Amino acid sequence: MCGIVGAASHRNIVPVLVQGLQRLEYRGYDSCGVAVHAGGLTRARTTSRVADLLTQVAEDKIEGLTGIAHTRWATHGAPAVHNAHPHFSHGTGEGAETIRPARIALVHNGIIENHESLRAALQARGYVFHSQTDTEVIAHLIDSLYDGDLFEAVKAAVLQLHGAYAIAVICRDEPHRVIGARAGSPLILGVGKDGTENFLASDAMALAGVTDQIVYLDEGDVIDLQPGKYWIVDRAHKPVMRQVRTVQAHSGAAELGPYRHYMQKEIFEQPRAIADTLEGVVGIAPELFDGVTNDGSTGASAHRVFKEIDKVLILACGTSYYSGCTAKYWLESIARIPTQVEIASEYRYRDSVPDPKTLIVTITQSGETADTLAALKHARSLGMEQTLTICNVATSAMVRECKLAYITRAGVEIGVASTKAFTTQLAGLFLLTLALAQAKGRLTDEDEAKYLQEMRHLPVALQSVLALEPQIISWSEDFARKENALFLGRGLHYPIALEGALKLKEVTYIHAEAYAAGELKHGPLALVTSEMPVVTVAPNDALLEKLKSNLQEVRARGGVLYVLADGDTRIESSDGVHVIRMPEHYGALSPLLHVVPLQLLAYHTACARGTDVDKPRNLAKSVTVE
Ligand code: M6R
Repeated sequence: MCGIVGAASHRNIVPVLVQGLQRLEYRGYDSCGVAVHAGGLTRARTTSRVADLLTQVAEDKIEGLTGIAHTRWATHGAPAVHNAHPHFSHGTGEGAETIRPARIALVHNGIIENHESLRAALQARGYVFHSQTDTEVIAHLIDSLYDGDLFEAVKAAVLQLHGAYAIAVICRDEPHRVIGARAGSPLILGVGKDGTENFLASDAMALAGVTDQIVYLDEGDVIDLQPGKYWIVDRAHKPVMRQVRTVQAHSGAAELGPYRHYMQKEIFEQPRAIADTLEGVVGIAPELFDGVTNDGSTGASAHRVFKEIDKVLILACGTSYYSGCTAKYWLESIARIPTQVEIASEYRYRDSVPDPKTLIVTITQSGETADTLAALKHARSLGMEQTLTICNVATSAMVRECKLAYITRAGVEIGVASTKAFTTQLAGLFLLTLALAQAKGRLTDEDEAKYLQEMRHLPVALQSVLALEPQIISWSEDFARKENALFLGRGLHYPIALEGALKLKEVTYIHAEAYAAGELKHGPLALVTSEMPVVTVAPNDALLEKLKSNLQEVRARGGVLYVLADGDTRIESSDGVHVIRMPEHYGALSPLLHVVPLQLLAYHTACARGTDVDKPRNLAKSVTVE
């Protein structure tokens, strides 16, 4: 969600800035822009993609040794050029921009909550605003505090900001300086090679190939960046040293190979992603979840924590929330541990009843989701200190914040719609279930061996499910003509129906809802007509006969059924009933297989409708604002 790159160097830095934006673009793509010091401040901005920005900077011959760049996911103000970052401040007075060159240029990730009062105060002092953004407020605020030292002006300005921010700022009068600051939004320093340049970015990925020497700035840090040196102060404005780590950030520039889109590629990567996630798991042991400390060594002991806790509270958003909902069934039926799953953005603001013997489990692909990080902090503030994350990014804020961790190995996920991250989260959560069951003495050796064998077979089972793609394509031709769809599931597969509906909404813009099939007759059945496709997840489990009755209710009202049925369910294709047979019944791990055809259905329906599959409208990959 929004991306920042900044640099202070002795060489033309524009190619590094724009390439960095290209790597961050999947996180937010409403507009993008770059500003450099080239004698004075100059900028290029566009609501097109970064590729167009590249053309624009080449045509306008924009070059400079110091610069900042941004790719935006709109919060305040529509996606329009005048709202695109970098924002300038030219000082006070109507028409100031025509009579004097810009003094301050600034990019920002996050949300400034007190932007209205700051705007009013700055307007009263004569500042004229040209955008609807909260960001422009910060540019004018810094300008209003500037007295020849940008570092001092930024330090004074951030004291007045409420909310979340990561900013990078340059100044007309100080050509070799970039100032950064962060609170609530990530910002890193990249220490350049040969001591001749330094970089700022919202994610190390932006600097892949440029430098692997990374400093993760702490909450409240302000940094002064110059070509051969940098200087950091903490939230109290005391000088601090922060650890430089070697981070092999992935460039994200994965080849598409034979695939049309990253979403399709990532769906097909799932056998590999699951195999990688389970690599090295030779037996079930709490130690699999031991924490990672800042220097990469082993941290807290999961064994001790698992013995102590007697409840689990899962906090997550979106797709990660649905993996948590699935895990609740496992944790309660296999490990017999009472489990609650909460949407992070709701949990953080409601009155709840804390219990210190709760294990807080956050689930997040990116490890940077603002709502999930805030929910974790809220849980801790209520005295729940035992924290564990299932996360795909080992260097993320979430992994740094939690005592215990399991790092999934999905690899970088570029498609905004999460696919391989979901199934690898499920694999991590199943392992967690078994490890907790073992710590509580509820896992027999036979069960451990059986579950491990089933997990190891998952990559092969997933390959057989992926081979169903041609049948899914024929379903997608029907769905491409629809504007509504219902998804049904029961038990363990109800969250899979929810995830299937979310995937369809995200990439096709078809309105889709999911229900626990038994709920249908309590209301949603009123929606069912011959125009309503009803996708049903039908594994051969204890609820199959109940589910079949629910399907009859749909058929009796003319609804058209699309059923993903295990081979031995005796559900046959007939008029108004389309059945795809899953290759094998998979017991407790069945959700990992049943979700795959739903991902493919969303993907192929999106292709048939011609949407921007990897960058669906209004969305962003990593939601780092509230
Ligand atoms: O990075 P996270 O897993 O914390 O992200 C949570 C959600 O924003 C994310 O799963 C979102 O719902 C995806 N776009 C779903 O495809």
